[in-house]
Amino acid sequence: MWLGMGQADAIAILGGTGDQGLGLALRFAKAGRTVVIGSRKTERAVAAAEEVRAAVPGADVEGLGNEDATGRAEIVILSVPFEHTASTVKGIREVLGEGQILVSMAVPLATAIGDGAVRTLGIWQGSAAEMVQALAPKGVTVVSAFQNVSAHRLRELSNAVDCDVVVSGAKAARERVMALCGLIPGLRGVDGGPLSNARVVEDLTALLIGLNVRHKVPEGLGIRFSGLPDRD
Ligand SMILES: NC(=O)c1ccc[n+]([C@@H]2O[C@H](COP(=O)([O-])OP(=O)(O)OC[C@H]3O[C@@H](n4cnc5c(N)ncnc54)[C@H](OP(=O)(O)O)[C@@H]3O)[C@@H](O)[C@H]2O)c1
Repeated sequence: MWLGMGQADAIAILGGTGDQGLGLALRFAKAGRTVVIGSRKTERAVAAAEEVRAAVPGADVEGLGNEDATGRAEIVILSVPFEHTASTVKGIREVLGEGQILVSMAVPLATAIGDGAVRTLGIWQGSAAEMVQALAPKGVTVVSAFQNVSAHRLRELSNAVDCDVVVSGAKAARERVMALCGLIPGLRGVDGGPLSNARVVEDLTALLIGLNVRHKVPEGLGIRFSGLPDRD
């Protein structure tokens, strides 16, 4: 159980100044959740928080440095490019506490080494999410989610997103993150089992990027699983 100083229902988004993180911040703020945007530069986080407030009047959102943002929420979403994920986790290790949930949505696209976005790199631990788990302090649970969701679709607040989100990691923690998916119209959290399944989910994003190009869908495709029984 997390005994931090933040608000119980707050969601911290590190790199929430960027495309995907800001999209999630807008959506969670619109759903009425407390959002804490983290950045390497506090002023960038403050500006992003202002952008959220402008789009979602009355939003409960704050911008802080990444370390301070980490200390404010039980659920911390990492939203930095894959190549900066390890250094970002190392930068917050000291402030991460027992019981926190760290959400990995990094996709190890080969762009990280100057190659194309339609291929992924082999990661020693198996996936970016498992690398994050290996770097996180004991007592912090990593959950993999949101890799197949388009930033563009997230940021179009007037439209539903229309995508399934495969959520993988330890059961209690992944249930918490699946509940977050339900806050965003059109997103459905799908129980994706153990964290090692992130390997498949991360690779799917490279496929989606290729499909976006071939089928000329700059807004980004999503994925849907058919035949899933309703959870409730
Ligand atoms: N874009 C998409 O459609 C999409 C879809 C699915 C998954 N994702 C995943 O979501 C994550 C974020 O993607 P994005 O497209 O939002 O990335 P992005 O806009 O390129 O960058 C996000 C943030 O990362 C921080 N950052 C940049 N360089 C950094 C560095 N050297 N060290 C530490 N932080 C740095 C920046 O925040 P500050 O400068 O404020 O610190 C930046 O605003 C990635 O892991 C990506 O794989 C993205």
